Amino acid sequence: MWTACVLTILPEMFPGPLGVSLAGQALADGLWRLDTINIRDFAKDRHRSVDDTPAGGGPGMVMRADILGAAIDGARTRYPDLPLIYPSPRGRPLTQARIRELSEDGGVILLCGRFEGVDERIIEARQMEEVSIGDYVLSGGELAAMVMIDATIRLLPGVMGAADSALEESFENGLLEYPHYTRPREWEGRAIPDVLLSGDHKRIAEWRRQQAEAITRERRPDLARSGTPKPAKG
Ligand code: 6GU
Repeated sequence: MWTACVLTILPEMFPGPLGVSLAGQALADGLWRLDTINIRDFAKDRHRSVDDTPAGGGPGMVMRADILGAAIDGARTRYPDLPLIYPSPRGRPLTQARIRELSEDGGVILLCGRFEGVDERIIEARQMEEVSIGDYVLSGGELAAMVMIDATIRLLPGVMGAADSALEESFENGLLEYPHYTRPREWEGRAIPDVLLSGDHKRIAEWRRQQAEAITRERRPDLARSGTPKPAKG
């Protein structure tokens, strides 16, 4: 079964939002599994401390390589074939393509950092893949881990009907999504664009495609430039 193995000092944060709605239903249905490991279980002292002061001085605390190493090796013994990811604002930007790979990989081990981060040697020694979910700083890796898990779960077979399968194409075909409308037909003086009520499916598809291109050019010129977009599907 697809498994998210999460190493954290805050196991009580899980499943959190992953326990409700789409991901939560899939968890209850046995379509994926969450295995949370408390990093503190690998501490050696009476106070179960996992961090220490940074070498060279400076603010904050750093998570110890020896304790993280023991926690990671424990997870790897359970899941020898799963990729090991360290969520970090220093990481390579997360993409829908990487999420799709993770959904085909059988699961993922996620090491959640707190404080100023982890001892650099653990990243090298355990060949961790550093991944960022955007250019802002979170107070720990847990929310980023949840983002990665959520984005992956919805791609697992049986989790979502065919209904939304086009959504992620937003990032696979290089275009943002076209605008959606539903009833009422007029609201606060705003009408639904006529073309959508015309019943002319070819014109509707063309309009949506044109809207998607305009929105992408305006908001994400970086996406608009990269790659050749595939034709929109009717
Ligand atoms: Cl992946 N982790 C943390 N801790 N902060 C982040 C992030 C990840 N991506 C952006 N900020």
